[in-house]
Amino acid sequence: MSPNPFYRPRRLRTTQAMRDLVAETTLAPTDFIYPMFVAEGLDAPREITSMPGQYQHTIDSLIARVEEAATAGVRCVDLFGVPLTKDAQGSGAFDPDGILNQGLNALRSRFGNDIVIMADTCLDEFTDHGHCGVLITDGPRAGTVDNDATLELYQKEAVSQAAAGAHVVSPSGMMDGQVAAIRQALDENGYEDVAIMAYSAKYASAFYGPFREAVDSSLSGDRKTYQQDPRNFKESLKEVALDIDEGADMVMVKPGLPYLDVLAAVADEVDVPVACYQVSGEYSMIKAAALNGWIDEDRIVTESLTAIKRAGADMILTYFAPEAVAALGR
Ligand code: PBG
Repeated sequence: MSPNPFYRPRRLRTTQAMRDLVAETTLAPTDFIYPMFVAEGLDAPREITSMPGQYQHTIDSLIARVEEAATAGVRCVDLFGVPLTKDAQGSGAFDPDGILNQGLNALRSRFGNDIVIMADTCLDEFTDHGHCGVLITDGPRAGTVDNDATLELYQKEAVSQAAAGAHVVSPSGMMDGQVAAIRQALDENGYEDVAIMAYSAKYASAFYGPFREAVDSSLSGDRKTYQQDPRNFKESLKEVALDIDEGADMVMVKPGLPYLDVLAAVADEVDVPVACYQVSGEYSMIKAAALNGWIDEDRIVTESLTAIKRAGADMILTYFAPEAVAALGR
């Protein structure tokens, strides 16, 4: 007797039109946030060796690249700054004329409210030691990041970013209490409309490797005393709950693909938009394999971003944002 299965799930996979009809997850241009770098003292954009296709931009090349991306359909950028000089306090981060604030200003002047302009709110690009906060200098804890002293600098930084035109500030330093401190400072300075996207569940990850070159980081050592231990899961739920309680408008899980279990749990738990960051190392691994002809870049980009969305992300920070939007049209 020839077998005759009663259940035939393959029926819904027979044609592209049928597969599109029953697809549970679809990507849209508004899902993507494009992280970009603006650097001080450059005459021309400099390609980041470990992130082919990504650049440290001049103000002019930043504007040109965002124009291109926005025309293609990207609706949100997240800006990081790379200063020429760094110091122990990271004072370039809250200098109104610092490179990041200059970049934000230029973006807001050119694009107004047509795109969402996000600012990275952290000190690590601006400190000579490369840490996300100021260091304790004396006593048994010398060399560790001083949580509460750092909060005051984040407050100044966030206010300067709001003044420069950021719609969203995004504290990425994993200091305790950073969201509440920033919310208070923004409100006291008349920026109650500026939103906070909190890097809530951020792991101390080797997947950030290429980002170090992207921001000319001076870090030696690691961030294990403030970022989360990859072996832990529950503390992500705690970090997220604390941030929402402190006033986060959106929360984030970071990195992306290696942490989909965390992302799914967070998305399940909260009632605010959840972002996920496909980080530099994820980008570089895909790029390196694609440049070797080992994988199909377009398909891997779409598949990895679909997987992140399927796991529960409402929006995805990805260096592939322009390519991903273009791929949607094909
Ligand atoms: C720190 C920060 C980092 C990234 C974003 N913000 C680096 C780190 O925490 O070590 C990493 C982003 C990426 O790897 O793409 N302000």
